[in-house]
Amino acid sequence: MALDTTCLFTLTDSLRFIWELTHRCNESCIHCCANASARGDEELSTGQIKQAFGNLAERDWGSFYASGGEPMVREDFLELLQIASTHIPSRNINFATNGKAITPRFAKQVAGLNLGTALVSLDGYNPETAKLFRGPQTAYNDAVNAMRLLSEEGIRVRLGVVIWAGNYQHLEDFARIGYENGAHTVFFNWLMPVGRAGTNSNLQVSPSLYLPIAQEILDIKSQYSSRVEIGYHRFGLISANSGECQAGRRILHCLPDGTVTPCSWLYKADPTMASRKKLHEAPLDEILQEEPFCNVQRIIDQRRQKGVGPGCLAVCKLFTGSYMGYDPLYDGKGAWVR
Ligand SMILES: C[S@@+](CC[C@H](N)C(=O)[O-])C[C@H]1O[C@@H](n2cnc3c(N)ncnc32)[C@H](O)[C@@H]1O
Ligand code: SF4
Repeated sequence: MALDTTCLFTLTDSLRFIWELTHRCNESCIHCCANASARGDEELSTGQIKQAFGNLAERDWGSFYASGGEPMVREDFLELLQIASTHIPSRNINFATNGKAITPRFAKQVAGLNLGTALVSLDGYNPETAKLFRGPQTAYNDAVNAMRLLSEEGIRVRLGVVIWAGNYQHLEDFARIGYENGAHTVFFNWLMPVGRAGTNSNLQVSPSLYLPIAQEILDIKSQYSSRVEIGYHRFGLISANSGECQAGRRILHCLPDGTVTPCSWLYKADPTMASRKKLHEAPLDEILQEEPFCNVQRIIDQRRQKGVGPGCLAVCKLFTGSYMGYDPLYDGKGAWVR
């Protein structure tokens, strides 16, 4: 619990592995942290991904999260999920999607794989705001249909909502939309100023609204407690005994070309946090000896010596410009704490 107050991810005692399988996408979201496009970036073939999974070695993989870009634009997506399940317990395998390519057939096939959670993203509370944010006219209906199709097949669905300037006054609508369309959980996430959200600065809500919005989500959570679970990262203030950043320790992230990084957000805040060797070329143990992974530990040790309190390294870097800055939510000296 303490760790979750610092990190942008839900953490457990085991490892969390996020893989952006492609940077190609069938939408063109104005906030996309991966700068995904129709063309994408270099990505591994099915065979190389198979090799890369072989290089993971025996570890306690608590969660594997297939992301992108839009992972479903890969023609081999189902095959990749199957390959993943030969290395990671299938119940711990999750994927994120904008829902656009989900068909009744795909939902049935995925149900057969007995996976964990399907995260369906929707950030517009009606078709107009969804189009504004994600591009296609059909973005809203695509996400709603995907939630229905997947949940009707018995798949656990999490509706993922990014909080931005165009929807923060309508957060309860998302709880209702999730509930009415079969979602098990509605999860609210802060917009991170990286990728296209880094250049579209008008999308950000003011940091002064952070704590009032957090309180509003708590109210929605209790109002919807018997209908749908409501979740949210970095829920409260961070104190001296909140957990440290777990980048590279409980979290690992991989880019479409097999580059490994300590955390997807940390890499986006600081692209030097990337391995030189690729996961299909070298065992993970060897990659973890590389500079970025040692650097994270060094930074955390320096922060301790400096007494700046725990913090999300990505947030510190993005919002204060330095790894040695106070996390804005730190109750010692955080800038967002009134
Ligand atoms: C990068 S997308 C990839 C998977 C898929 N294409 C989708 O839309 O869900 C994964 C999640 O990250 C969220 N996301 C993208 N850019 C973000 C940003 N700048 N800050 C916070 N979340 C972001 C998306 O809204 C989505 O829920
Ligand atoms: S930088 Fe650290 S605290 Fe922040 S999201 Fe990544 S792992 Fe979590």
